[in-house]
Amino acid sequence: MQLVKLYIKLLFISAFSLMSLLAQAQSNSETIEVLSPNGQVKVSFLLEHGSIYYQVGFKNMPIINKSSLGFELLDKPQLAQNFKIVASEQTQVNQSWQAVWGENAQVENNYTQAIIRLAQQDQLSRQLNIHFRVFNDGVGFRYEFPQQPNLTSFAISKELTQFAMAENYTAWWIPAYRDQRYEYQYLKSALSSIDYAHTPLLMQNKKVAVAIHEAALVDYASMTLKLLTDNHKTLEADLVPWANGVKVYAQAPMSTPWRTIQVADSAVQLINSNLILNLNEENKLQDVSWIEPSKYMGIWWEMHIGQKSWSPGPMQGATTERAKQYIDFAAKHNIKGVLVEGWNKGWEGNWWERKPTFIFDQAVDGFDLAQVSQYAQEKGVELVGHHETAAGIAHYEAQMEQAFAYYQKHGIRSVKMGYVGTRVDGGEWHHGQFMVRHFNKLIKTAAKYQIMVNAHETIKDTGLRRTYPNMMTRECVRGMEYNGGSPDGGNLPNHTVIIPFTRGLSGPTDFTPGIFNFAYQEKRPNNRVPTTLAKQLALYVTIYSPQQMAADLPENYQDHPAFQFIYDVPTDWRKSIALAGDVGEYLVVARQDKHSEQWFLGATSNEDARNLSVQLDFLPKGQKFKAVIYADGANAHWQHNPAAYQITSQQVTAKSNLSLQLAAGGGAAVQFIPVN
Ligand code: NOJ
Ligand code: CA
Repeated sequence: MQLVKLYIKLLFISAFSLMSLLAQAQSNSETIEVLSPNGQVKVSFLLEHGSIYYQVGFKNMPIINKSSLGFELLDKPQLAQNFKIVASEQTQVNQSWQAVWGENAQVENNYTQAIIRLAQQDQLSRQLNIHFRVFNDGVGFRYEFPQQPNLTSFAISKELTQFAMAENYTAWWIPAYRDQRYEYQYLKSALSSIDYAHTPLLMQNKKVAVAIHEAALVDYASMTLKLLTDNHKTLEADLVPWANGVKVYAQAPMSTPWRTIQVADSAVQLINSNLILNLNEENKLQDVSWIEPSKYMGIWWEMHIGQKSWSPGPMQGATTERAKQYIDFAAKHNIKGVLVEGWNKGWEGNWWERKPTFIFDQAVDGFDLAQVSQYAQEKGVELVGHHETAAGIAHYEAQMEQAFAYYQKHGIRSVKMGYVGTRVDGGEWHHGQFMVRHFNKLIKTAAKYQIMVNAHETIKDTGLRRTYPNMMTRECVRGMEYNGGSPDGGNLPNHTVIIPFTRGLSGPTDFTPGIFNFAYQEKRPNNRVPTTLAKQLALYVTIYSPQQMAADLPENYQDHPAFQFIYDVPTDWRKSIALAGDVGEYLVVARQDKHSEQWFLGATSNEDARNLSVQLDFLPKGQKFKAVIYADGANAHWQHNPAAYQITSQQVTAKSNLSLQLAAGGGAAVQFIPVN
């Protein structure tokens, strides 16, 4: 019955589009309109004199004006002109799917799909299909190169996709093609001031917020956005090249990643969008019983604040004894994983300045991996492995299988990856097709050995966690580590109220919150954590990650009453709602634990103090809750008095308004426990 209905609908839509095609054919221009299920997002595909374009509107406002589509190919005629529409079809899809883990246990996937089949009208008759998926929260489109005689192996020298923005929006962005990869403070400027930006790129004005990114980056180059200087509002897809200048090596049949345009009334609503995940393929791993979100701590921050070193010798952080101290603490405090950096051979001296010398299955003197791992398992804790590659991919890949097999043998289920370096293997960018291929190989190889991945300095997230749910979290951001040892002193207080609206749109962020001791200036006189203690707690809710680090040292948590929040906060959620916020100013997020009826809330502010009144109407009606509130102390201030906090509790229901006083650089974290 369903199928029959779909068939009739398809017939109707095809007949309808055929009529409009015929009507427009005489004028050399054809338009195909695709509407989101609620009718508010509209995409128009245009064929004009054989060239192809699209445009996007939201609530009758233009968002993206007429923008080109197509490709330049190496040593082959362009795939941009002489097209005709061979066929087009539209279908409605209304499904939902269950996430293995995530911000939401169930995800609605509701869109209108249009597939437009094009062929060039010349001797080669090359074909190109464009797929649009129009959701209520935005648009995804991708190019498909079908199997065909005159386009088999080819190299893309330029993707011609443009985004002709309708306004000179305010943009929040980080620059592309820089040595520190994605690890930059976000810039706020007019769109017209961008040169090259990474995605997600957030743009907004008073009426609308738009984010451009991509989904399902599997075997292609990452897309950056270049501003064209003719009208200063048009962005062009700028693919990160191979060292030889080629953008992408391809073989038909193949599809590009989805180009995504998320749109909403305000930036905070974009955080609630599932468009990127929806555009990825379903879970491909059959057995997911070994995949589990969790908290971890580790021998890490003490290196960044200069108390210990990765290098073997007197300052060596990775010792059997120290690892056991972390394990003892973790076992008693609801922390599943203990990371040890510098445990393997090859970390001597300035390891990032030479060709990598790491050996991934041999421990350094002073650290007994087998013993430590055994000790952890006896206490119900797991060691988290570490593979720092120093951007030496050939060196790493030669050992990769063996290295994962070694971890699996020792009961290690999770690895943190690192790709420190300005270029990969001496010449490639971190985000070109070379690294995209490496990274996908890594995820699959890790899955083969039942290992979860947390990757630093890697490819931006494009939602592949849906397809490979062992791809847990990643850095791709200027994380907490910059507050530990960066020569520039660290992040600005507004950084953590920018990144959930920008970097966070792509997926989980291993930001590593939880610093309780602010007095570490003995070795790092110019560094500080630019938040209060209560804000550190709030970050566990506002910055999503299925693997959350408790980043400070165990002795700084020992007997600290505020640690109870880290103890209690879950890492897997039934439901998540970004409730209120303004980019660079503040953010309030509520999430429900996947495995209990408890709710959690995080509220964070920039350098300004502010009072927030939060309506608790997300709580189930009729149920009473005890709200345990971890708030800034009366005189708390990120600079002068970061450690001042207070813990209070009150009874609330869905009808209550919770009043929160956030200090300058402050925050509040709340746990809602159902009561009778
Ligand atoms: C950079 C990573 O982001 C950081 O977390 C790690 O400690 C160092 N590399 C060493 O691998
Ligand atoms: Ca890093």
